[in-house]
Amino acid sequence: MAGGVSVPTLGAAVCEAGGLGFLAAGYKTADGLYQEIKQLRSLTSRPFGVNIFMPQPEYADPAAVDVYAHQLAGEASWYETELGDPESGRDDGYDAKLAVLLDNPVPVVSFHFGTPGPDVLDSLRRAGTFTLVTATTPEEALAVEMAGADAVIAQGVEAGGHQGTHRDLPETDGSGIGLLSLIAQIRETVRIPIIAAGGIMRGSQIAATLAAGASAAQLGTAFLATPESGASAVHKQALTNPLFVRTELTRAFSGRPARGLVNRFLREHGPYAPAAYPELHHLTSPLRKAAAKAGDAQGMALWAGQGHRMARDLPAGRLVEVLAAELAAAQEALGVRPARGGVR
Ligand SMILES: Cc1cc2nc3c(=O)[nH]c(=O)nc-3n(C[C@H](O)[C@H](O)[C@H](O)COP(=O)(O)O)c2cc1C
Repeated sequence: MAGGVSVPTLGAAVCEAGGLGFLAAGYKTADGLYQEIKQLRSLTSRPFGVNIFMPQPEYADPAAVDVYAHQLAGEASWYETELGDPESGRDDGYDAKLAVLLDNPVPVVSFHFGTPGPDVLDSLRRAGTFTLVTATTPEEALAVEMAGADAVIAQGVEAGGHQGTHRDLPETDGSGIGLLSLIAQIRETVRIPIIAAGGIMRGSQIAATLAAGASAAQLGTAFLATPESGASAVHKQALTNPLFVRTELTRAFSGRPARGLVNRFLREHGPYAPAAYPELHHLTSPLRKAAAKAGDAQGMALWAGQGHRMARDLPAGRLVEVLAAELAAAQEALGVRPARGGVR
C-alpha cells in the first residue's frame, strides 16, 4: 500500500506472524526503497515482497488536465496552497527501482498497472525472485501468464485503492469485476496460481476465495487499520466512522480508478475527473497534503475497500493470527483440509 501505509514495521509484523508482508515502492525514490528494504530486513528474516508501479504510456489529454486544474482552483484557495505540476514525472523511477531489486534481490516482487515484459520477469526469476502481476480481467491475466509471471493477483472491483487495470482508457467507466466471478474467469483462462484481492476482511472470505480457485489471498484495507500501518489517524478512524458508509471508484485524486470512502472531494470532483494518471496524482498532491495536515477527512484520498466497516483495530501480527484461525474454522465447517501455511 503506497502513500506511506506499508511501512517496514507493518511488513515485519505481518511476516513474523506467518503472513507475507509487502513494502510499497510506489511514489518512493529508488534510494528510499533501498533503505526500507534494509530496515525490513533488520526487523525480520522471513520472506517479504516489494510492490512496483508500471510506468504509464502517455495518453492523457493535456487540455482535459488543464480544465480539471481550473475546476480545482477553488480547492487550492480553500486549502491555501497551489496545485501541483501535473508533469512532475510519469514513470515513478521504474528503472532505478528495478535496478535496486536486481542488485539486492527480494523474495517476491509484484507489479501494478500493467505487466512487465518477459525480459524483466526473467531477470527477476534468475535473481531468485517470485513474480506477481495484478489483473482485473481474464484478458489481463492471460497477458500476465504470457509474459511469464509466476502468479497473477486477481483484483476484484471491491478492492481498496487503485485498480491495477493495465490500461485505463478514457472511454471506460472504471467499473470492474466482482472478486469471486473474476477468480472463476481467470481460473478458466490461465494455469498459473491466483492470489485473490478485494474486500477480504475475514478468514471465512479467504476460505471462499480458496474454494473458488485461488491459492492465496491479499488483504489491504484490513491492515490499513492496524496500529503499525502508516496511514494517518484520520484515515484509520474514517474506515469505521458511520459518516462514511459508501466507497466508490474515482479518478478524482489520481486520474486512475481507485476505490475510496465517498467524501466531499470525491463527490464534487469525481464525476468529471479525466483519465490522466499520474498527471492528476501530481496535480492534487498539495491539496491532499493540506487537507491531511488540517485533519480534514473531506479533502483527503481515503482509500478503502468495500469491506472497510469490518476493519478491526488489532495489531498486525494478531490480525494475521485471527485471520488464520477464522480461515481454519471456515475450512473445517466446509469439510475441506486447511491450506498449508494459513493465510500466507
Ligand atoms: C491504501 C491503499 C493503498 C494501496 N496501494 C497499492 C499499491 O501501492 N500497489 C498495489 O499493487 N496495490 C495497492 N493497493 C491495492 C491492494 O494491493 C489490494 O488490491 C487491495 O487492498 C485489496 O482490497 P482490500 O483493500 O479490500 O483488501 C492499495 C490499497 C489500499 C487500500
